[in-house]
Amino acid sequence: MAKIKPSKGAPYARILGVGGYRPTRVVPNEVILEKIDSSDEWIRSRSGIETRHWAGPEETVAAMSVEAAGKAIADAGIDASRVGAVVVSTVSHFAQTPAIATTIADRLGTGKAAAFDISAGCAGFGYGLTLAKGMIVEGSAEYVVVIGVERLSDLTDLEDRATAFLFGDGAGAVVVGPSKEPAIGPTVWGSEGDKATIIKQTVSWDRFHVGDVNELPLDSEGNIKFPAITQEGQAVFRWAVFEMAKVAKEALDAAGLSPDDLDVFIPHQANVRIIDSMVKTLKLPEHVTVARDIRTTGNTSAASIPLAMERLLATGEAKSGDTALVIGFGAGLVYAATVVTLP
Ligand SMILES: CC(C)(COP(=O)(O)OP(=O)(O)OC[C@H]1O[C@@H](n2cnc3c(N)ncnc32)[C@H](O)[C@@H]1OP(=O)(O)O)[C@@H](O)C(=O)NCCC(=O)NCCS
Repeated sequence: MAKIKPSKGAPYARILGVGGYRPTRVVPNEVILEKIDSSDEWIRSRSGIETRHWAGPEETVAAMSVEAAGKAIADAGIDASRVGAVVVSTVSHFAQTPAIATTIADRLGTGKAAAFDISAGCAGFGYGLTLAKGMIVEGSAEYVVVIGVERLSDLTDLEDRATAFLFGDGAGAVVVGPSKEPAIGPTVWGSEGDKATIIKQTVSWDRFHVGDVNELPLDSEGNIKFPAITQEGQAVFRWAVFEMAKVAKEALDAAGLSPDDLDVFIPHQANVRIIDSMVKTLKLPEHVTVARDIRTTGNTSAASIPLAMERLLATGEAKSGDTALVIGFGAGLVYAATVVTLP
């Protein structure tokens, strides 16, 4: 048997830079109320959301990603040509093939970097981060750009009062690179496919294309509705509150840390009540800064954790070198949690 040379990478990996892009259009709850029977007070108290951003025609998945990743690369202080891989997590890029990551890599000037998309819903950032860490330690890339990007407004049924107010658009990105010290802990991740239907697309693209009015959901004017994200809100809520707090605790244990060691907690921005409940279950001490970016960003799925991270650092609520627990969870159902040192 021929002896294959072992691959050789950095001893450890860390996040070196972060960047975000929020679309210019800010959408208050009043706009949501034009199509559903609800109230600003209900939306704020049940979800925590006050405003969200919706992308305009020019703010494509690629354009928002290039903005966010460009800032992350500048923040990391590296030249784009040194990026060896671009990983894009999204559920709202509408072409099946090619992956949007190759276009983004090209526009970033990363040369011939490996580039691919992943579909892991609201856990997408954690999945991408885990892959990036592996690539750096294994030696297949010196630096990796991980992007979470969504245009969920394209996949929102504005007449569905269970979801119309929840989603927002945006992109968040990080650069992951070599480190002498451990700065990304072990990932605790997984999937629960027996619950695949509790967050899903209303209609698959092929059924939508067939366009059978007897089969497909219709809007108030009798037109076939564009596919949208639908969910069993309470089932998701219960799963997130009970199961995800356990996963977050496992990630802390895996990193050999206790809640007292944390400076920052950045959970997926799904609902402020889910966030508050996790803080309580995890018994996070007062000194831990908790991301509640959902108030002005809504739920941006794969983009929510890097966007929240970027904002905490930009506002000075968190600082470089802080120890942060991040956890993403959502459609699949899938989840990923880890402890990171902030860039
Ligand atoms: C969507 C969500 C905010 C709804 O909150 P909830 O407290 O579970 O609301 P429920 O669906 O139980 O409805 C409670 C009541 O509010 C009403 N209601 C539902 N939507 C409403 C709306 N938009 N405005 C006003 N009332 C509404 C319901 O009819 C119900 O009324 P009833 O008590 O008279 O029957 C919440 O379930 C949630 O955030 N779930 C997780 C969502 C999520 O994170 N999804 C993404 C995956 S990561």
